[in-house]
Amino acid sequence: MHVNSNDPLGAAISVVTQGARGLSDLLGAYQKRDPAARTKLEVLLLYPGVHAVIMHRVSNWLWRHHLRFLARLNSQIARHMTGIEIHPGATIGRRFVIDHGMGIVIGETAQVGNDCLIYHGVTLGGTGKDRGKRHPTLGDHVLVGCNASVLGPVTIGNHSRVAAEAVVLHDVPPYSTVAGVPAHVVRSVNDKDEVVHSSASLRVDDEEDICLDCDTLIMHHRRVVRM
Ligand SMILES: CC(C)(COP(=O)(O)OP(=O)(O)OC[C@H]1O[C@@H](n2cnc3c(N)ncnc32)[C@H](O)[C@@H]1OP(=O)(O)O)[C@@H](O)C(=O)NCCC(=O)NCCS
Repeated sequence: MHVNSNDPLGAAISVVTQGARGLSDLLGAYQKRDPAARTKLEVLLLYPGVHAVIMHRVSNWLWRHHLRFLARLNSQIARHMTGIEIHPGATIGRRFVIDHGMGIVIGETAQVGNDCLIYHGVTLGGTGKDRGKRHPTLGDHVLVGCNASVLGPVTIGNHSRVAAEAVVLHDVPPYSTVAGVPAHVVRSVNDKDEVVHSSASLRVDDEEDICLDCDTLIMHHRRVVRM
């Protein structure tokens, strides 16, 4: 929609329209992901992840307009209500689903792409060693399982999955599943969801300590599963 900057009413209508569309998409994403979610009204009223994301949109707006104290205050109120702590500076994409909520921490410089799903207990945090950009970046369509920690300025590629309880300390290529502590690639698929590699089939050169089947996709993940 074209917005005339000299027309405050038009601009306000545009913001409200976009906000309503974004909210409807968000509620639809919960219905798609959670078989227990029956109606959009129920999702809006009863799902703490929705409340946390809506309040984060407000906190983030305040943060970007240098109202830092109010931004932090709003995010702390959201934390008390939902058990989900999203720093106001974090960048959150569209249709972000937080299933169950509780015990979630998302740091200041974290970036979350579109259509991501995370479960309770997830940390997108820093290692304590980095300055500046010190939190993870999730691509689009990323899943992070319950109680997983993704630490440091690492990137999780599009369509990748972090298994429940994993601790991720390195970049994850697109279309990969990582598991374990520290996490390593256990499965990779292509964009047609055909399995390219799985931990059951990876061959390892014991002398060189490298995976023979992984090519450039996961060569830098030297801790492959040994079968
Ligand atoms: C990782 C996950 C997304 C499955 O992804 P996938 O790409 O379909 O992977 P697969 O199920 O094919 O598993 C691949 C390998 O990882 C292993 N694996 C799966 N989840 C694992 C986990 N959490 N920890 C350790 N290993 C795991 C599997 O056993 C399998 O190993 P194998 O190849 O030696 O048999 C899923 O197991 C998971 O952890 N989902 C999170 C769900 C969650 O948090 N639910 C909470 C609901 S309240």
